[in-house]
Amino acid sequence: MLYEGLSTVEVEFENRIAWVYLNRPEKKNAMNPALHAEMCRVLDELEADSGVGCVVISGRGGAFSAGQDLKEFFRDLSDDLIAQKQAQRNANEWRWHRLEVFDKPTIAMVDGVCIGGAFTQMIACDFAVAADDAVFCLSEINWGQIPGGLVTRVLTEALGYRDALDLCLTGRKFDGEEAARLRLINDAVPAVDLKEKTRVLAELLMGKDPEAYRATKHALRYVRNIPMREAEDYLAAKIGELRMRAGAGAQEAAIKQFVDEKNYRPAEASYTSVSKKTT
Ligand code: COA
Repeated sequence: MLYEGLSTVEVEFENRIAWVYLNRPEKKNAMNPALHAEMCRVLDELEADSGVGCVVISGRGGAFSAGQDLKEFFRDLSDDLIAQKQAQRNANEWRWHRLEVFDKPTIAMVDGVCIGGAFTQMIACDFAVAADDAVFCLSEINWGQIPGGLVTRVLTEALGYRDALDLCLTGRKFDGEEAARLRLINDAVPAVDLKEKTRVLAELLMGKDPEAYRATKHALRYVRNIPMREAEDYLAAKIGELRMRAGAGAQEAAIKQFVDEKNYRPAEASYTSVSKKTT
């Protein structure tokens, strides 16, 4: 059965929003191999579930995640190369490969600590919103390590060069407000408002045409690191794919509404920040 038999993840549904909670609060939601395997499965199920319009990733017990489980992910697997490889593959699979191009809108809702490896899924989500007093930290330098998995690579997707170096090389902690100032996240809001602000954002994203949303996300994600001519070709093919998936009439209908019926003005929908009122 879908979403059943989970021991480290919990999924709640509310009006087409799936609230996915890492659920090891006694360990500050540190991610162990079981959690990575369950998240791979849960994301498959959510992507295929036509009743789900938006996925929010968060953590139970007032912590987003304390990163990889230093005991169960690292120490306990140190003599088992096969288990190590499986855990690493699952960890990178859901936290980056799947979330980066997930078919539906995704939001990271960060409350409490977001440390080390937890940056990966936070950055991979389309949007990230945090409590203004959330605690972010790339702690690895403080115990003789480099940030694990894909963290340093994905950080360069999100931050400027100086800020990425600062956070990785000092291992200092910083709060939600600074994270928003650095544009590591979209917004920081008071903790009491976090869930409601996330819900408002989820509803806004679910109001978009789902095929156009998916294609736009793919376009932005896939063309970042390819040369201009190849990007041009990829994007032209993407438009063709969108017309095929959405039906050729979708764009024509929207143009008709604007040009002939004059009852739709696409450029007037505005959204700047979840902490401001949306129209
Ligand atoms: N791996 C394994 N266990 C972890 C963990 C991690 N990354 N982070 C926290 N835990 C465990 C603690 O060992 C403790 O377990 P215990 O109750 O069996 O002793 C439990 O979670 C609660 O943590 P605790 O340190 O008591 O809570 P706190 O509120 O004082 O501090 C943190 C929370 C997250 C700031 C602190 O635990 C910490 O610094 N963790 C390490 C984070 C880190 O460097 N992660 C990088 C990994 S990529």
